[in-house]
Amino acid sequence: MALVNSKKMFEMAYKNGYAIGAFNVNNMEIVQGITEACKEENAPVILQVSKGARAYANHTYLVKLVEAAVKECPEIPIVLHLDHGPDFETCKACIDGGFTSVMIDGSHLPFEENIALTKKVVEYAHERGVTVEGELGTLAGIEDDVKVEHGAESYTKPEEVIEFVTRTGVDSLAIAIGTSHGAYKFKPEQCTRNEEGILVPPALRFDILEEVSKKLPGFPIVLHGSSSVPQDYVKMVNENGGKMPDAIGVPEEQLRKAAALSVCKINIDSDLRLAMTGTIRKFYNEHPDKFDPREYLKPARANIKEIVRHKLKNVLGCAGKADECK
Ligand code: G3H
Ligand code: 13P
Ligand code: ZN
Repeated sequence: MALVNSKKMFEMAYKNGYAIGAFNVNNMEIVQGITEACKEENAPVILQVSKGARAYANHTYLVKLVEAAVKECPEIPIVLHLDHGPDFETCKACIDGGFTSVMIDGSHLPFEENIALTKKVVEYAHERGVTVEGELGTLAGIEDDVKVEHGAESYTKPEEVIEFVTRTGVDSLAIAIGTSHGAYKFKPEQCTRNEEGILVPPALRFDILEEVSKKLPGFPIVLHGSSSVPQDYVKMVNENGGKMPDAIGVPEEQLRKAAALSVCKINIDSDLRLAMTGTIRKFYNEHPDKFDPREYLKPARANIKEIVRHKLKNVLGCAGKADECK
């Protein structure tokens, strides 16, 4: 089947208590690892491209890689989504250039300006059958060239969501309930430590999610910054020349709980980066004589596939749901 927008996926995810995985793609091995897992698990999927990915790999290469995945995986619905669209022009370029969904990220703007920008993108997108994600509230962490320090983030205000959704016409809303971008989601001071010295993060603000959901019944909510930063991979990185002390993510049980509520899209990038980097570092360490990129990209791709498979089955709950999302 051809690329689809996110409408039907979110309708089914909301109704049946699961979330669609939105995985960031930057090169061929990442696209292949994700879509091979989704194909084998019969799961719908969102492949998302950031401004940084477009700058790195080029818009056309990314679209063609995703088109290749669509051809190789005709049984599963695939959305091609712009992640953190920074302005109208970028959203327009993606809509005109084959994307089926875009995010316009006006979360850093004053409320009225966020509404005006989001509405403009929605009008352009909807005329062309493309779905739009907006955002209220800001996450800590790094996204593209913007770094929001811990402490400077702001939770979504539930009293703003009805007005935002009604006046903009967005199809989904990203909210801030304590997740953050990157591999250092919580400062050590915000956490406790378990007996092995591993940081235990504070809980997400499910009270805010519940208030938002009460105000927007049936409306799909999106969670950014939802990597869990698997400690096995952090260890693999650190044992093979890397330095990622106190890297920490969102516990998977909390994401599973969110997926069973109104959260229909869960964004995961850092976990795939960690799987890829850990695997390649280990390979270099164990095979200092090797220099054929295929030899280290192959296990990296296989481990991306395994981690995505795990997310689909055990965190998102969308394994086996491809058919109902068509
Ligand atoms: O939200 C950020 C995503 O992880 C994309 O990261 O801007 O470095 O491509 P990037
Ligand atoms: P992570 O850094 O937690 O993977 O978040 C990715 C994301 O939100 C992309 O928009
Ligand atoms: Zn994000």
